[in-house]
Amino acid sequence: MLRKNKLLKTVKTYSLTAAITLSVGGLTTTSVANADSSMSELKKVLKSQIAMMKPELQSKVAGLSADTKKSIMAILAMHNRTSDKATLRQVMLEVLSDYQTMTMGIMTDSAEMTADAARRLANHRIPVGGLLPYLGLENINDNKLAVLESFNDSVEGNAIKLAEAAEKGNMGEAAGLVGPISTGCVGCHAVFREYPGTSDLMK
Ligand code: HEC
Repeated sequence: MLRKNKLLKTVKTYSLTAAITLSVGGLTTTSVANADSSMSELKKVLKSQIAMMKPELQSKVAGLSADTKKSIMAILAMHNRTSDKATLRQVMLEVLSDYQTMTMGIMTDSAEMTADAARRLANHRIPVGGLLPYLGLENINDNKLAVLESFNDSVEGNAIKLAEAAEKGNMGEAAGLVGPISTGCVGCHAVFREYPGTSDLMK
């Protein structure tokens, strides 16, 4: 938790252009040694994600603005579980399961069940290659990706608040946060997801 906050702060504080272009030794500020090492961890993750992308996606990513790249790094910094196998679809089903467990915890007045599930949801796995490969090439531009961080804040931010409310024994407040979380899920799907499970074999 502390580590994630620190990472997030680091991402928001430093100029990210250098980090995103992944230039070696891009960050020259040395005042906070730990922040530098967090930053280099993030750089490593991002570098390996970009290396996995096909050239057409790599060039779209290279063309994103510094602000968009900064928001992608901020999202990445909120998650410390990266998978080298899981697809976004698999991650989403795991997220749905945590969401359901979270509501089960609320309905059964179990602070532990609620808070654990909400924190797992907030720190869901990052799929192999990161989020971008699964969003569709047509969505990899500054306009579309501008909304990504706000969806992340609705889902992850409110899930953390919900966990804290549950831990304080305030299930009413926790219940009230299920709506804003769901709005974040649905909003992101409306922008980045096709209608699920359609068949080419239907007329
Ligand atoms: C960052 C944007 C984003 C957010 C936020 C998001 N999703 Fe998704 N979700 C997607 C995308 C993109 C897909 C399609 C993935 C694919 O099929 O490759 C998807 C697919 C799904 C699926 C369908 C999986 C399947 O097998 O077709 C479920 C279920 C799902 N999401 C649940 C959730 C829940 C629950 C939340 C909120 C707690 C959520 N999602 C938040 C982007 C998002």
